[in-house]
Amino acid sequence: MTQEAVIRVDTEALRHNVRVLRQAVGRVKLMAVVKANAYGHGSVECAKAFEEAGVDWLGVVDLDEAIALREAGVRLPVLSWLHAPGETFERAVEFGITPAVSDLAQLEAVAAAGAPAVHLCLDTGLSRNGAVESEWEALFDRATELAADGLVIEGVMSHLSNTSPQEDGRQMAEFVKAVGMLIERGITPPLQHLAASAGALVYDGARISMVRFGLAAYGLSPFPDRTSADLGLRPALTLSAPVIGIKRVKAGEGTSYGFTWRATHDTTIALVGLGYADGIERHAGNRARVLVGGRLCPVVGRIAMNSLTVDLGAAVGARPSTTTVSAFEVGESAPGGFAATVALGDPVVLFGDAAAGHPSVDDWAAATGTINYEVVTRLSPRIPRSYR
Ligand SMILES: Cc1ncc(COP(=O)(O)O)c(C=O)c1O
Repeated sequence: MTQEAVIRVDTEALRHNVRVLRQAVGRVKLMAVVKANAYGHGSVECAKAFEEAGVDWLGVVDLDEAIALREAGVRLPVLSWLHAPGETFERAVEFGITPAVSDLAQLEAVAAAGAPAVHLCLDTGLSRNGAVESEWEALFDRATELAADGLVIEGVMSHLSNTSPQEDGRQMAEFVKAVGMLIERGITPPLQHLAASAGALVYDGARISMVRFGLAAYGLSPFPDRTSADLGLRPALTLSAPVIGIKRVKAGEGTSYGFTWRATHDTTIALVGLGYADGIERHAGNRARVLVGGRLCPVVGRIAMNSLTVDLGAAVGARPSTTTVSAFEVGESAPGGFAATVALGDPVVLFGDAAAGHPSVDDWAAATGTINYEVVTRLSPRIPRSYR
């Protein structure tokens, strides 16, 4: 990665997204999920932007992520839900972080550490973390005893599989049953939450008292058939890097390892200093496109550890604001020769907001057979982030 490669995060887009999402879900509490370095966007800065936008809670995976937020001065309530065996939760108490516990041992440890409040994390069918149904009675009985001693059972949570309305409905019914078991014991946790972006936007009944927005808060769509713009969201992240080399290649010559691409005619290749060490999917070679000088150009040849190559001779006109590319070819032979207008240092946008004519994160996900979540989350922390 060259020093000039940069991830720009538009914090106004984050605030806009929170406004849109708040309107979509009504009067429930909002948690912004900032785990995994805020889906690659940078956890501390995004947490602060979400704090300014008025979200009620922040969600992270583990105590290390939560403590990093506290050390950076983030004051919002933070929930952390995945813990290593033997975690004693003293650090949670020290830094004012609320743990969600998945079993009796974690609940005992939280109580022994003197935590003031806890959320109970339940597995309603996802088979990941959370207590399974056969453990609920014992967990809830012990929670009731601890509540009598002053531990606040502040929340109960689960997580949907997003498999189908039927499967999600089954999980929601299980959740309602679990909450009923707690209420029978005299405990009504004020924060009952199981919906993340997709569930919160689709199911009124899944919103209950809080929803946990990750992906959608960053302006990306959790639905394969709906874009960010369809949801009124603005992707906050733009990844760009300058052209650091320009080279003529002749018809028949290859570029990058294994010559998985060879020029079919004389053309011009631009070199960009981002590769798989920076979190760029290696399989994007010969599949994805980038924006150079207002034109979409294909990434050609294999993406290397620290660089990728772009065929300027195969530029096509950038789309205005839709996901379809207008098909006029502006090759080397076209009047004006687009490639000749590209200079060292010119910015290359890998992905950003489709509404600004950029290739989208969804385009890259489709090109590489993955999901938008992975495209942004895998971006290396060593790429500098800049915020506005
Ligand atoms: C427990 C939990 N809640 C909420 C989220 C946020 O999900 P999404 O990014 O789909 O909104 C996640 C992310 O995987 C999660 O694990």
